[in-house]
Amino acid sequence: IIPKLYEAFSQSFDIGAAVNARTIQTQRELLAYHFNSVTPENEMKFESLHPLEDTYTFEKADEIASFAKTQGMKLRGHTLVWHNQTPDWLFQDAKGGTVDAKTLLARMKSHIDTVVSRYKDSIYAWDVVNEVIADEGTELLRQSKWLDIAGEGFIAKAFEYAHEADPNALLFYNDYNESHPAKREKIYTLVKGLVDRGVPINGVGLQAHWNITNPGLDDIRSAIELYASLGLQLQITEMDVSVFEHGDRRTDLTAPTEQMNELLTERYEQFFKLFREYEQHITAVTFWGAADDYTWLDYFPVRSRKNWPLLFDEQQQPKKAFWRVVEG
Ligand code: G3I
Repeated sequence: IIPKLYEAFSQSFDIGAAVNARTIQTQRELLAYHFNSVTPENEMKFESLHPLEDTYTFEKADEIASFAKTQGMKLRGHTLVWHNQTPDWLFQDAKGGTVDAKTLLARMKSHIDTVVSRYKDSIYAWDVVNEVIADEGTELLRQSKWLDIAGEGFIAKAFEYAHEADPNALLFYNDYNESHPAKREKIYTLVKGLVDRGVPINGVGLQAHWNITNPGLDDIRSAIELYASLGLQLQITEMDVSVFEHGDRRTDLTAPTEQMNELLTERYEQFFKLFREYEQHITAVTFWGAADDYTWLDYFPVRSRKNWPLLFDEQQQPKKAFWRVVEG
């Protein structure tokens, strides 16, 4: 009998998976058996929910919310303010020019009010602001239309509006390359600034898009300790472990090599051992997908290259890494 993944961690943290309108059908049983939390992969992003100023499209998001409810799973909301998958109308005025700051912030407030209020009873945590830190250079914040038009104040405002709409929701700042030494310092600086100013933020989301060699465990540990020192809770929000090292652009594999599988297994074992060490701080670990039959990494960074980054294989059966993780 196969142990349930989430039960193996019931004393430590929740176990989640990103889902989409299709995988709640194609992976239904696997999701229900092993996971006690879900995050919509794309269906609650700005362009999905609010493609035109006067049009909201909630169908797919509602399907996922009702799936979570029926299965008794928790639901994380992803994401309210991001530079990607955001419609053009948001940043434009009636003449097709650039909107002014005041209007942009009013639109942001209206979007957050509508969406957060709608899912008040089903979503317990929101990724309020996603990926605003600059990857390279000395600038703290990434160049974006949000920043260009509204200035850095949009970040605090997003949290304030979300808190007004649902005072019970846990509000997260979420980012990737979260363990990289320079970027983790910047993320810390941003979040500390928010905490010090009394902005309603409850946690830091570590996306954890990792691979079989990078980042190193020491960097991950340092990131966890640094964020935990803010006194906020931590969630691993989008975990996967690519079997390709950074820069490996091979496209000819039809299955992972023996060596890739060995590394994947070893890495997953180490990661979950580390997460358990910090279970006082980490409240959830969510994978960005459930089984290797569907992963966004099949399209990134090389279009149409299969990847095998999860704990369940293409037949949705537990991999060696799964056993190592649950038996650890
Ligand atoms: O909707 C179109 C569809 O009509 C078309 O047939 C299809 C053909 O390619 O594309 C569809 O849009 C794709 C969309 O996912 C929905 O599947 C986009 O091309 C594709 O770019 C988009 O990718 C998503 C990506 O965010 C966009 O930035 C991935 O599915 C999603 O997994 C990924 O998730 C992000 C998190 O939100 C934030 N952190 C990083 C993470 C991975 O990039």
